[in-house]
Amino acid sequence: MVKISVLVSGGGTNLQALIDSQNNGIIKSGQIVQVISSNDKAFALERAKRANIPCEVVSLKESGENFESRLLDSLEKFSPDLIVLAGFMHILSKNFIDSCNAKIINIHPSLIPAFCGKGFYGLHVHEAVLNSGSKVTGATVHYVNEIPDGGQIIAQKAVKILPDDTPEKLQRRVMEFAEWVILPRAVEEVCRKLQPKIFESPIKYPGRGIITGMTESGKIALAYFIMGRSQSSKSRIFAKSGDDLIIKLVDVKKDFDSSLILYSPLRVHGENIIVTNGDQTDTIYNFLNESKTFEQALRTREYEPDAPHYTPRISAIINLSGYKQSILKRAGKFFFEYEFTLIIMT
Ligand code: GAR
Repeated sequence: MVKISVLVSGGGTNLQALIDSQNNGIIKSGQIVQVISSNDKAFALERAKRANIPCEVVSLKESGENFESRLLDSLEKFSPDLIVLAGFMHILSKNFIDSCNAKIINIHPSLIPAFCGKGFYGLHVHEAVLNSGSKVTGATVHYVNEIPDGGQIIAQKAVKILPDDTPEKLQRRVMEFAEWVILPRAVEEVCRKLQPKIFESPIKYPGRGIITGMTESGKIALAYFIMGRSQSSKSRIFAKSGDDLIIKLVDVKKDFDSSLILYSPLRVHGENIIVTNGDQTDTIYNFLNESKTFEQALRTREYEPDAPHYTPRISAIINLSGYKQSILKRAGKFFFEYEFTLIIMT
């Protein structure tokens, strides 16, 4: 099932259309797992609560320049495959769109490419339509890219303009006869397209991973992998340096920022093997040199400063008696410890 997060700012009638369509079977390939509102007074929140859908407020007023990174944090809790902007009154940056590991679609209350882009939202759209003397308007569902209301069109429906229309009357008719009809159908269509991909690859972007443990035959196992998503990730290779691993850069341009990707992924300290996804390897190594612990070292560090991702720092240390792992996230610093029971057969 495709996981859907719905982002709202107001009354939430489009959200309601999605909830109803989920209940009456128009949407069957996806499920709304989360509603996020940018406005704590939005009636959309009440609609989500009534439908028992987890909801949260991420307000622009309170989060200021951290708005998008808060949104990403909130989305991360449910890892949606599809994000639906249903009356969400904010333009999202390219950085945000690239950071979302999900398709994003939006409902806009006009026939794009008319009456859309910056400044065209809510009632303003219908005011502009009436002022223009147009005879027809409607609604559009489209994919979201870095151009406001500029992504590929998925569905459109036209609505006639009547002589006695006011912006309010027209808004209501566009909603009822266009938006609430095409949005659920478009959501189902997109979910159906996403479904096979999810089935083929349950983990869409494993990113970096560290595996530590012991195999059934009693061997200590340690694996570390990086998948190169960004250009900076693709510009590096592992190289051996004595017992340690280092990272070397390949084919990089002059202004390339290598600050977060040049580090030792693995270092050996006595009987300990340290493996991490950042330069905290050296912090741990240096603390061990001073007879201090893995935890003491990592308590001096935090997640990476690469807004808006704030990549968690993942670390592990393994020796003959067990292994420890840690993850330093914005949500906190977490430590895990496991002991080995080594069975030596002669
Ligand atoms: C809807 O008409 C939607 O198309 C529009 O805001 C209204 C929200 O109503 N969205 C935009 O203008 C985005 N550019 P709702 O909260 O009742 O769904």
